[in-house]
Amino acid sequence: MIENHEIRPLSEPLQRPIRLGVLISGGGSSLANLLKCRNDGLFQAEFPMVIASRPDCGGLQIARNAGVRAETVSRKSFKATEEFSEQIFSLLREAEVDLVILAGFLCLIRVPRDFENRVMNIHPALIPSFCGKGLYGMKVHEAVLARGCKVSGCTVHFADNLYDHGPIIVQKSVPVFEDDTPQTLAARVFQAECQAYPEAIRLFADARLVVSESRVRILDEASSRV
Ligand code: GRF
Repeated sequence: MIENHEIRPLSEPLQRPIRLGVLISGGGSSLANLLKCRNDGLFQAEFPMVIASRPDCGGLQIARNAGVRAETVSRKSFKATEEFSEQIFSLLREAEVDLVILAGFLCLIRVPRDFENRVMNIHPALIPSFCGKGLYGMKVHEAVLARGCKVSGCTVHFADNLYDHGPIIVQKSVPVFEDDTPQTLAARVFQAECQAYPEAIRLFADARLVVSESRVRILDEASSRV
């Protein structure tokens, strides 16, 4: 049962592979994982476009090697977040993507109305801890260790117009060990990310996500088929 104030990003399960547009700023480890998951049959997806915010992103080569159209929309070429975002989303519209995946994308973007609840981000910590502007990559794990946390993890959420904000879809926790370094913790969190992102994408494609203000409700499998 969907209440009046609830939004269902996809009203019915997709009967075809989901079309993913992936945004990157770095090495593309999340992109590589998603391509691997697709190749291993963990979910059905097409990758019509990868967009990098810098021309020197290692992830661009990963995309090209996989036969994916790879574009650069350089953040430096735009003064305002709005213009930068418009350029990105006009490419994504042209590529007819169903869902936008932020995969190590470090720039703030303005999500246009037609993409609301259709942009996902992954963050390598348990939001709302250790997130926001300036907390990315190894800095996150350094901060977790400095605070003496006993658990960390990752969060997949719908992106809005703030850093690491928006309704949470999937979280996975991992233990933090006494002898962890930022690198060992990052590797353990990344293993969790490799499960969390495909899971969130599958839930989206199966129309099992319902957004209610700042929360996401996950429908059971039977009730997603209306
Ligand atoms: C992801 O693993 C996620 O933690 C964060 O960025 C990582 C991917 O970065 N959002 P990269 O593309 O390997 O640089």
